[in-house]
Amino acid sequence: MKPTVTIVLGLQWGDEGKGKILDVMAAEADWVLRAQGGNNAGHTVEIGKEKYVLHLIPSGILRGKVSCLIAGGAVVDPTGLVKEIEGLTKRGIRTRGRLHLAAQAHLVLPHHRAVDQGFEKRRGSGKIGTTGRGIGPAYADKAARVGLRAGELALPSRDLARRIRERVALHNRASRGQGWVKISATKTIREVEAAARFLRPYLADGVTLAHRAVASGQRILIEGAQGTFLDVDHGTYPFVTSSHCTAGGACTGTGVPPTAIHRVVGVLKAYTTRVGGGPFVTEDGTLGHLLHGMGREFGSTTGRARRCGWFDAVLVRRAVQLNGVTEMAMTNLDGLDGLEKIPVCVGYRLRGKYLKEPPVDAADWSRCRPIYRNFEGWCQPTTEARHWKELPRKARIYLSAIKDLVGAPLGLISVGAGRDQTFRHG
Ligand code: GDP
Ligand code: IMO
Ligand code: MG
Repeated sequence: MKPTVTIVLGLQWGDEGKGKILDVMAAEADWVLRAQGGNNAGHTVEIGKEKYVLHLIPSGILRGKVSCLIAGGAVVDPTGLVKEIEGLTKRGIRTRGRLHLAAQAHLVLPHHRAVDQGFEKRRGSGKIGTTGRGIGPAYADKAARVGLRAGELALPSRDLARRIRERVALHNRASRGQGWVKISATKTIREVEAAARFLRPYLADGVTLAHRAVASGQRILIEGAQGTFLDVDHGTYPFVTSSHCTAGGACTGTGVPPTAIHRVVGVLKAYTTRVGGGPFVTEDGTLGHLLHGMGREFGSTTGRARRCGWFDAVLVRRAVQLNGVTEMAMTNLDGLDGLEKIPVCVGYRLRGKYLKEPPVDAADWSRCRPIYRNFEGWCQPTTEARHWKELPRKARIYLSAIKDLVGAPLGLISVGAGRDQTFRHG
């Protein structure tokens, strides 16, 4: 069987524009499977004047013929998912029969949020800057084998209530020593039962669904959340999320085997952003000021101003290796339209040494200084370009240099948030 699966994931620290690119690519897809993460994600899709921010639901939902699966590698806040479905329904987007929730996915419950926020408070100035959605503690419970899975939403209500009561009691006992906020089991049971009634029709065996789609040769996109350097193994640990945001995670999260993967599309911005703490070698306050002044780069989940910096080729080169990227989708080129000079980081300097690869340790990573190569800005709008040849010459030079520096071909190029502001390289 010819592989038909495409992984679409972020090559930086999240918010690369995956939502927009997935929505564009979903025009030629049958399925979109969300592999990992939870409602820490915020994937923005703009269609005409309508703006959608998706947190758990795959971006393919906005294309009427596409089926969507929240796969087993994701962690799902049941009440959050209900709200997200209701929000789409109000806007005329049908989800019943199109959206499926893998029974294998783990649940994020109120006690996970209490622990997430408790840990952050205790970390003080060294905090990770999590989204506070309980993602880390939910994955910790999964690894510790004490988590509840979405499939349990189908249990008779007495059994579901017992499972929740046990889990909340464990939390409340531990919270005495830890200083976590205590959780009411009764309130949690009430909330989860309401969500369970709503979500039961969406439950499915995620792996069987995915494999049926693969076996029948359907065109499948796997949607990654977060980005390569937020991956718990390959990111700027400990300033990471708790899931595997790289291509390997797309396979384990969905149960789709590596041999079924045909393409890996790495989404990246023409510059760099990150939300939360951690190393950021090319961070630049002036660029941040400029982008924020344009109303850009505010988090779609928490509204926090994103940290901004220049394109970091050291970072993306590593992301290309880690994910086996077959093509890149470059977004937000228009963010650089007004600049006369655009630096690109081509290497790091650490304790007098030149590095072509990022260091292992986050503390060392923070000490790295960027080595820049400067490019001339094009100083004209790119937002109306619909073809490679319509881009200013200096913008083409910039993009071609990036492609060579990171070692992966360019596919889609995006010059605005709209669906139509997208074209293929060449
Ligand atoms: P995601 O998490 O990777 O889906 O990215 P987000 O949606 O969190 O953030 C990307 C932001 O950039 C969103 O506001 C998008 O609407 C916007 N966006 C995506 N591509 C472009 C582009 O090429 N130009 C502009 N101006 N905005 C873009
Ligand atoms: P999308 O899918 C950007 C960041 C948080 C924090 C770290 C850990 O929209 O690209 P967590 O709540 O996951 O424990 O927080 O990860 N983070 C993201 N940053 N985009 C995201 O998702 C993110 N999801 C988590 O800001 O630094
Ligand atoms: Mg986002």
